[in-house]
Amino acid sequence: MYGITGYSNGYHQNQQQHSSEEKRGGGRRRRGGRRSRHPPGFRVSDHHHHHYNNDDDDDKQEQKAPPPCTDFDMAYFHSYAHVGIHEEMIKDRVRTDTYRAAIMQHQSFIEGKVVMDVGCGTGILSIFCAQAGAKRVYAVDASDIALQANEVVKANNLAEKIIVLHGRVEDVEIDEEVDVIISEWMGYMLLYESMLGSVITARDRWLKHGGLILPSNATLYMAPITHPDRYNDSIEFWRNVYGIDMSAMLQLAKQCAFEEPCVETITGENVLTWPHVVKHMDCYTIQHDELESVSTRYKFQSMMRAPLHGFAFWFDVEFSGPTNSPTNNHIPSLLTGASNNNHIDGIQKKKRANPNEALVLSTAPEDPPTHWQQTLIYFYDPIEVEQDQIIEGSLTLSQSKENRRFMNIHLEYSSGGRSYVKESVMR
Ligand SMILES: C[S@@+](CC[C@H](N)C(=O)[O-])C[C@H]1O[C@@H](n2cnc3c(N)ncnc32)[C@H](O)[C@@H]1O
Repeated sequence: MYGITGYSNGYHQNQQQHSSEEKRGGGRRRRGGRRSRHPPGFRVSDHHHHHYNNDDDDDKQEQKAPPPCTDFDMAYFHSYAHVGIHEEMIKDRVRTDTYRAAIMQHQSFIEGKVVMDVGCGTGILSIFCAQAGAKRVYAVDASDIALQANEVVKANNLAEKIIVLHGRVEDVEIDEEVDVIISEWMGYMLLYESMLGSVITARDRWLKHGGLILPSNATLYMAPITHPDRYNDSIEFWRNVYGIDMSAMLQLAKQCAFEEPCVETITGENVLTWPHVVKHMDCYTIQHDELESVSTRYKFQSMMRAPLHGFAFWFDVEFSGPTNSPTNNHIPSLLTGASNNNHIDGIQKKKRANPNEALVLSTAPEDPPTHWQQTLIYFYDPIEVEQDQIIEGSLTLSQSKENRRFMNIHLEYSSGGRSYVKESVMR
């Protein structure tokens, strides 16, 4: 890891003390913010300098000052200092094996090249890239887990190749461009955590023209679901408790169980229709402002008669090559697998066509489970739908003004002649 003299990694900007240890960071596991063992600004590169003000860097966009590192960001980074969250991610074999396979699939591109791992955590993806023959890997993480990553790198005799930078990707400095950006940035419901913005920042600061981004694109889906077991277990249960009528608890039970989105595993049997594409994102071209708010209109036709309990959300990411690679012309997957407009397509197929044969990391209910599971937004009361009944409405996901890592969810839905609105916050 690189030394510190006089370098700011952004922790000092607008910094306030945490008002509460309970403040949740918005990281993948909901942990109370733990205070850092080290003062802000500990150990970041001091002998790399900003490259993007160089005169020869004409094709880079004018760089704005990085956003301040807020106390919410600090709580978020603290949540990633805990070993448990990294253990959970690394033990998610679907996730980690797919990343490793994707790196090996692109080995001929990575060999001899410079890589940046945005949010390296324990350093696992950086090490995979070094094993694939990368010349140099910048492993960046603002969490104290970077200290461990540095030890892991040294213990594997990779300190010559992997440079661990302990700081925000928005603030660290390196003095060269990179050929490859790799990052595992996806949050629950894809957009929770708002980490993709940091990948965009790294791309705009350092990625060479024709460089590779892994994963290359991401798609968020939604579909109506039925889940009688879950509803009965949490709600109907109160109707008869040891022979006592506890229906008076129903309203409270509905609010407590279903006010916020739930991260749970469902199966394909819970899903009532083919999914709708909420948002498809190309990591090569997406811009920051597209992430502030995502809106869609949807229209489903139930494939069966069932109580409709809510909507499920899941995502997949694809690992295809850079735009100008001769072996991969980066054709985005055709979204035949889902409705991505508000028409019902009678011949929708379940899977997206994948003309690049790219590796796909899927968190769909019909695929092997991952630590992301699926995100469920339950209604307080189910709607009985008939086969072919239309379920339609709109959805807006927006970064919370209070903490951009939290997500406001505005859901409008109507079916059988009645309309409803549900507002929730994923925090
Ligand atoms: C989901 S974890 C992935 C860790 C590791 N790459 C892996 O695959 O196991 C995301 C990591 O990114 C870090 N991170 C998020 N935003 C960051 C930013 N703007 N700058 C530096 N690190 C960031 C977090 O601290 C966290 O350790």
